[in-house]
Amino acid sequence: MKQAIGIDIGGTGIKGARVDLATGALLSDRIKIPTPAGAHPADVFNVVETIVNRLTPTGGESIGVCFPAVVTHGRTRSASNVSNDWIDFPANEELTKALGQPIQMVNDADAAGVAEARLGAANGVAGLVILTTLGTGIGSAFLMDGVLVPNSELGLLEMEGQWAERSASNSAKERENLSFEAWSQRLTKFYRHVEDLFSPELFVIGGGISASHEEFFPLVDARTPLIPARFLNNAGIIGSALLAGEQI
Ligand code: BGC
Repeated sequence: MKQAIGIDIGGTGIKGARVDLATGALLSDRIKIPTPAGAHPADVFNVVETIVNRLTPTGGESIGVCFPAVVTHGRTRSASNVSNDWIDFPANEELTKALGQPIQMVNDADAAGVAEARLGAANGVAGLVILTTLGTGIGSAFLMDGVLVPNSELGLLEMEGQWAERSASNSAKERENLSFEAWSQRLTKFYRHVEDLFSPELFVIGGGISASHEEFFPLVDARTPLIPARFLNNAGIIGSALLAGEQI
């Protein structure tokens, strides 16, 4: 069975598991450790190392890591919910050094998009699918006929003078104690803006809150169909492992 390790670094938690690359099934417990305060690279790397060691790597398998920032040429370029030390930081190279084995780092929503396009809710959908993750921020992935166009940042669209993710993410809902009705009005504004710009065929919605999709999808008044991600909060782990597994 082809397998790889997937690690999802987030602003609040760092999660990892061993993944079956054919089905996306987790082959180990999902290990979750809180993100160290400040989320500085060296502290985050220590946690990643702990998780990798607990997953008892055989030595030869690939390790994919996703991160909540733009990642180009192995460098993290932004830092909305983590330490500013990550801006323009050679994360791929430094984490490879820290672990003593190669890793592949990608944006977290892009990893989730790949998992959903290959094995989940967006599988086989032709045309443009836009996946958004509603979590601490809003992440996005563009998938054209299943092929990822990396590093879109729809959470950074401006809505009423601020980044959309500041008012429409799940953390905004929690911070402001919004009802599903009130939050859905903000989501409607966000998704309408996105569909006006890109005319996608489908929105796939990820992040843990999409487990409650029945409570809010019917309240979001967009033209484009919304469907929940299949892998919910594990999509980042699974997509990272899939992308890393392809590098062998
Ligand atoms: C970041 C994105 C990330 C998203 C979800 C945003 O704040 O800018 O790169 O994908 O959060 O974690």
